[in-house]
Amino acid sequence: MRVLAIESSCDDTAAAVLDAGGVRSSIVASQDLVHGPYGGVVPELASRQHVLAILPVIERALAAAAVTLDDIEAVAATYGPGLVGSLLVGLQVAKGIALARGLPFIGVNHLEGHLLAILLDRPVPFPYLGLLVSGGHTSLYLVEGVGAYCMLGRTRDDAAGEAFDKAAKMLGLGYPGGASIDRLAAGGGDPGRVRFPRASLKRGAYDFSFSGVKTALRQYLLDGHSVAVADICASFQEAIIDMLVGPTLKAARALGVATVVVSGGVSANSRLRARMAELGAGAGLEVAFPRFAYCTDNAAMIGYAGRARLLRGETHDLTLNAEATLPIGVADAPVVGRPA
Ligand code: KG4
Ligand code: ZN
Repeated sequence: MRVLAIESSCDDTAAAVLDAGGVRSSIVASQDLVHGPYGGVVPELASRQHVLAILPVIERALAAAAVTLDDIEAVAATYGPGLVGSLLVGLQVAKGIALARGLPFIGVNHLEGHLLAILLDRPVPFPYLGLLVSGGHTSLYLVEGVGAYCMLGRTRDDAAGEAFDKAAKMLGLGYPGGASIDRLAAGGGDPGRVRFPRASLKRGAYDFSFSGVKTALRQYLLDGHSVAVADICASFQEAIIDMLVGPTLKAARALGVATVVVSGGVSANSRLRARMAELGAGAGLEVAFPRFAYCTDNAAMIGYAGRARLLRGETHDLTLNAEATLPIGVADAPVVGRPA
């Protein structure tokens, strides 16, 4: 089945074509230059930019796959969670194509896309632990199969990527700042130079919290220090990574899973990759990361999840609406899952 997939949940406009052979094309138009001056995503600008980009991006995805709409057999699109004005653009275009062409349509949960993105590159046996770390989400899931997700823990406040971006803004490194912090830290920053606090939560063994370390950085900068920016970046990054690694390894041990998959934009972080791989090896765990292009937002992962569901006969009605807070892996999720 040849599927056209569309993703527009936040600030990337993306389209992909997938068939039985895998990903035929995956195009992403970033809006970083639009939002950069504001130090964060401006929802109104994001949806307007999606409107401008969506059709050219779809056309590029079709051309790169050497197909036309005549060759497409089904359409998949993200319907949540995300910014509602952004979601609506991709979703409505996807439903429009499905209606005009009489094609089956499936809405995909963005988080499901991230959790399954690894499967675009290689098979991973279920169940695996999915650590999802992005700009909007930081959560831990037991992934038991396509559509079978159990949320084990989540952030109580900021997402890890949000903490990276806010830290980068305080340090004057631009937006989005996660990659800049990674780069500066990797260029000789000392992770032990500043001891930032690590939150330890009494309830919710697998939960995360990043607002404390963010406040600690703000206070540290206000106090005025002559420490090199690279050292501050490395130390801040190390605190975030410690707080991601701790609950993940604890859950892997408690549930007896053999594989941990780290996905979402922050999984591009080089130090997180190295630390997770090293600690995983020590604990007898396999740690897998999607390739960089499938870590950050993309439509290939939406196509993978959508196609898997379409192949087992699932479709959505064209009345499906965008849902800004669409959950996954909890009792009230529309996606089949086990209560946490
Ligand atoms: O998954 P994603 O593209 O979009 C969301 O769904 O949020 O993730 C974007 C986030 C941003 O916060 C960005 O700063 C962070 O991923 N990020 C990184 C790195 N590359 C991207 N954070 C730390 N280190 C990186 N190398
Ligand atoms: Zn994402």
